[in-house]
Amino acid sequence: MAVSACPIRQIGDPVLRGVAAPIDPAELAGPEMQSMIDDLVDSMRAAHGAGLAAPQIGIARRAVAIEVEDNPRYPYKPRIPLTVAINPVITPLDDETFVNNEGCLSVPLRGDVTRHVSVRVQYLDRHGVAHDQIVRGLTAGTWQHECDHLDGTLIVDRADPATLATWDEFDRHHRAAFVERITQFVRRVGS
Ligand code: NI
Repeated sequence: MAVSACPIRQIGDPVLRGVAAPIDPAELAGPEMQSMIDDLVDSMRAAHGAGLAAPQIGIARRAVAIEVEDNPRYPYKPRIPLTVAINPVITPLDDETFVNNEGCLSVPLRGDVTRHVSVRVQYLDRHGVAHDQIVRGLTAGTWQHECDHLDGTLIVDRADPATLATWDEFDRHHRAAFVERITQFVRRVGS
């Protein structure tokens, strides 16, 4: 299959700030929506992202792709097999939270964001099959980040402003301490 990566929309583009529309299951089966999903996955992989939401490729519909493979740059990240989620709904299981440091392909900054540790995720896959699962830890954080995009929320809205940093400055001043802290967190809660 030909790779058809799309440009990633950047903060300031109004499509990143709207509430994306649900996808009807009948429409999901059609070639147009299946092609959009292919584009979403290809674009995520081309940009080396852990996830991508449809608004980030300019499509205001409720679809996200998530995938984390072994990556020497992010050795602390638990793997996530390729997941395409249509109309995802996230429900926190309790009040426990953790502070993650997040980046976003649509934002040139990283920042500390508070996320729920354990969430229930309900969604349709690209074939229209319903899924209902519980995810924890960094994986739960990834789900929350991607689903935020469907409601027009970006990390700059949730981040502690004092922690915002460019990628270079994050690497220079904060990465080592973050990796140490988050590695202990992943050991504690698993993925
Ligand atoms: Ni993002």
